[in-house]
Amino acid sequence: MRIFVSVLIFSLSIFQLNAQFKSSIITRESEVPKYQLPELLISENEQKITTKEQWETIRRPELLEFFTNQVYGIMPSKKIEAKYQTLEFQTNSLKGKATRKQVNIIFSNDDKKISMSLLIYTPIGVKKSPVFLGYNFNGNHTVNNDPEILINGKQEDELGEKKIMILKRDARGSRSSRWAIDKIIESGYGLVTVNYNDIDPDKNDFSDGIHPLFYSKGQLKPESDQWGSISAWAWGMFRVMDYLEIESLVDEKKVILFGHSRLGKTALWAGANDNRFSIVISNNSGCGGAAISRRRFGEKVSDINKNFPHWFAKNFHNYNENESALPIDQHMLVALIAPRPVYVASASEDSWADPKGEFISAKEASIIYDLYNLKGINSSSFLPPVNTPIHRNVGYHLREGDHDVTEYDWNQFIEFARIYFSLYNIK
Ligand code: GCU
Repeated sequence: MRIFVSVLIFSLSIFQLNAQFKSSIITRESEVPKYQLPELLISENEQKITTKEQWETIRRPELLEFFTNQVYGIMPSKKIEAKYQTLEFQTNSLKGKATRKQVNIIFSNDDKKISMSLLIYTPIGVKKSPVFLGYNFNGNHTVNNDPEILINGKQEDELGEKKIMILKRDARGSRSSRWAIDKIIESGYGLVTVNYNDIDPDKNDFSDGIHPLFYSKGQLKPESDQWGSISAWAWGMFRVMDYLEIESLVDEKKVILFGHSRLGKTALWAGANDNRFSIVISNNSGCGGAAISRRRFGEKVSDINKNFPHWFAKNFHNYNENESALPIDQHMLVALIAPRPVYVASASEDSWADPKGEFISAKEASIIYDLYNLKGINSSSFLPPVNTPIHRNVGYHLREGDHDVTEYDWNQFIEFARIYFSLYNIK
């Protein structure tokens, strides 16, 4: 009997815990708490910002500094050695439609070394091609079923026993639905991709990846204000950009930075820091990306910091269950990309990423585009219906469906790039 009672009590408390956890996820608009967004156009010392010069010299730097020290973490400014090594080059890939090039970037500092492997496709007949640049999750070979794509920069037979294991888990082309390669190439764009784990393996461990190459003597992990993984992945994109600036296949003035989900957060943060990315696209980036933290809809700051303690700077954990103490919100991250075109894409069933919160960010950030006389999303507009894209300097769409990247998304991104490259007449 005693045992029965304790089992019953135990199960009841598990049930309660579960219920508590579930009820703490906001999935209905009526449950969103009242909140006030911090003002984009009022500086820390209460100065009203009315011109783009004031934005660039006063408000923008203070916001960037806060995101750096308190949210994503400081990236090292020190340069380390980067060597480029061409692994493969073929002018007749994708049934003769594209050039394929694979390049290793090798970083080294003292006795430490890591490398990242780029896969580059550019359309045949385009001299210097505009490109979409984006990280992939599972390896370059998963983005397209092309037997010549190296696996972690290696030929299959160089992988030895690991080959079967890797290909079983991540088959060639297994993620191709997320990369509309044929469409991208046919539209005159190239694609540059790299596995994000090359720069920093996505686990709560700061002994591997790029971080140790920058540690001071005896340091084992970043300080509270130093870079977490999102900053490390962003840093990796800057280094790819360094390479693209000297890669003759690519038009370095037309590099469109793209990222999905955690890599959408990364794209926004990288784009905010480096204006060599001429367009920035975040797809379903959610919490810590485009979604407004104060809405607490879907994933909250405390959820993301608990489940992924390595993504942000340690300082960001101070805001768990305390979003209102933040002097920033994520619309300001989107605003940091101005005046370059930025695109925020959501999906209607992706409530964990808070589509409406992502839309609000895009809309609020548009105030900064106004300072440049560029048309963003009208301040009086509401979340558009599904599959009704807005292609202004700030772009947005709510795709019907789940957390994913689909052909529909790529159609919008390609069209958005086409509009802006011809509008700005970028040469
Ligand atoms: C998790 C995480 C999200 C993230 C997503 C992804 O769902 O909670 O913040 O965007 O993974 O990267 O796929």
